[in-house]
Amino acid sequence: MLRPRSAEHYAITSRSFEPVEVLGSGKSASAFLARKGPLVRVFRITKAPPFDVDRAHFEDVRTSLRHSHALAKHALRVRVPRVVETFVVENRRGKAIAVASIMEFVAGLSLQDQLNGPGLLPSHVDDLKRLFRMLWTQRTSHGDAAASNLLYDAARRRYVCIDTDSVRQHPTPADAKARDLPTIRSSMPPRLAAELARV
Ligand SMILES: Nc1ncnc2c1ncn2[C@@H]1O[C@H](COP(=O)(O)OP(=O)(O)OP(=O)(O)O)[C@@H](O)[C@H]1O
Ligand SMILES: [Mg+2]
Repeated sequence: MLRPRSAEHYAITSRSFEPVEVLGSGKSASAFLARKGPLVRVFRITKAPPFDVDRAHFEDVRTSLRHSHALAKHALRVRVPRVVETFVVENRRGKAIAVASIMEFVAGLSLQDQLNGPGLLPSHVDDLKRLFRMLWTQRTSHGDAAASNLLYDAARRRYVCIDTDSVRQHPTPADAKARDLPTIRSSMPPRLAAELARV
């Protein structure tokens, strides 16, 4: 499943995990489910740019990912998967080639899957409103508040945010909300987007 010399391969094997399945691969990152004995984790590998960059670039990416994740965690607490480690991935010659985060696996459908499948209950809508109220009242925007980046934690019955790379703080709650509304409107049905716009 993993190409032998890929960043994903080096990231997962460097921590003595085994890949289980690909969860997703987007423009900027790919996510893998991996296991070590009974332990199940998500490895999210941030892609390197298509030109040669040195270790300092990856250290900067690591710092930036840790900063935006810390902002998300501060505003949303348990509604962001816990990150165990964010590290620079090296190939077998010790060259820096990517940045990876190891995080908790959230079992459940994404909001996008729910919208395309079983749909939402009123309690789901209420929980989404609570999440965005928490975020925006603390002057924080997600930066990519798409339906695919909200996972419904089935066991704990609440939504969590993933893909926190673009989380930012703003001068006012209204600025934070204004940053996220266009993505909400383009990835969610109009009625749901309108409800979230009113929180
Ligand atoms: N902690 C997690 N628990 C369960 N599934 C996850 C977790 N993190 C990511 N995933 C799954 O992997 C997919 C991709 O992850 P993520 O959204 O972080 O990156 P991406 O969407 O590929 O990147 P980008 O949005 O930059 O294109 C998600 O849509 C989700 O299905
Ligand atoms: Mg995503």
